[in-house]
Amino acid sequence: MTNPLVEIRRVRKSFGAHEVLRDVSLSVNPGTVTVLLGPSGSGKSTLLRCINHLETIDGGRIIVDGELIGYRQKGGNIYEMHPKEISKQRQNIGMVFQRFNLFPHMTALENIIEAPVGLNGKNKNAAKEEAMALLSRVGLADFANHYPAQLSGGQQQRVAIARALAMKPKLMLFDEPTSALDPELVGDVLDVMRELADEGMTMIVVTHEIGFARNVADQVVFMDGGVVVESGDPEEVIGNPQRQRTRNFLENVKHG
Ligand SMILES: Nc1ncnc2c1ncn2[C@@H]1O[C@H](COP(=O)(O)OP(=O)(O)OP(=O)(O)O)[C@@H](O)[C@H]1O
Ligand SMILES: [Mg+2]
Repeated sequence: MTNPLVEIRRVRKSFGAHEVLRDVSLSVNPGTVTVLLGPSGSGKSTLLRCINHLETIDGGRIIVDGELIGYRQKGGNIYEMHPKEISKQRQNIGMVFQRFNLFPHMTALENIIEAPVGLNGKNKNAAKEEAMALLSRVGLADFANHYPAQLSGGQQQRVAIARALAMKPKLMLFDEPTSALDPELVGDVLDVMRELADEGMTMIVVTHEIGFARNVADQVVFMDGGVVVESGDPEEVIGNPQRQRTRNFLENVKHG
């Protein structure tokens, strides 16, 4: 039996009176890919943001690699961590958003070395060498000195992935990484993600790319209204959904 890398236990989160996550539980084993599906407003981004404590939680707990995220338990009480500790935890968790990932005034290479050098005090030449290797890995070896504005959306997303990988994360979170891209650019980004999965990276991916979910995910989780409606093997959840809400959603994604 392996221990899960990510354990989300009975997490609750409200914004004011609006309960956005209601008792969400989920485990992610190391080296696996989990795809989160669900309609707009179902709480997918909020859940991802809770995993690296970009949002506080109101109940439950999130454990990554054995560490309680964002909080410290003392006696019977729970305290939020110091910002420095939170930032340290975040370094183990890479995140790629829908868009606006990169610093516009820095080249691709500078974007990638920024955190290792600035946050971790890594030697600049060593960081540059690693960044070049990462750029090759995402198919952008020739674009090191390009600024984001000189890159396509798909290229920018691949730089964003390389930048997250530069911190050697244990876990990668993706929030609709391809949904702002022109259709012809989606494939290159999904290919990089698939390679990352093949190399054994643990990933949680919010996406409407059902093909990616089917072919790459080890687990698909369907959320609606802040709860996990169903989860399991992609062929089961996508190919043979048990719940009407899941069926409705999949119909809309396929035809929408
Ligand atoms: N900072 C915030 N303040 C208030 N409400 C918020 C905040 N962030 C999210 N919400 C609300 O929480 C609910 C869930 O939002 P969330 O972004 O997690 O949904 P989602 O599943 O990612 O949707 P989408 O597919 O549109 O990205 C929505 O009703 C949203 O309006
Ligand atoms: Mg979202």
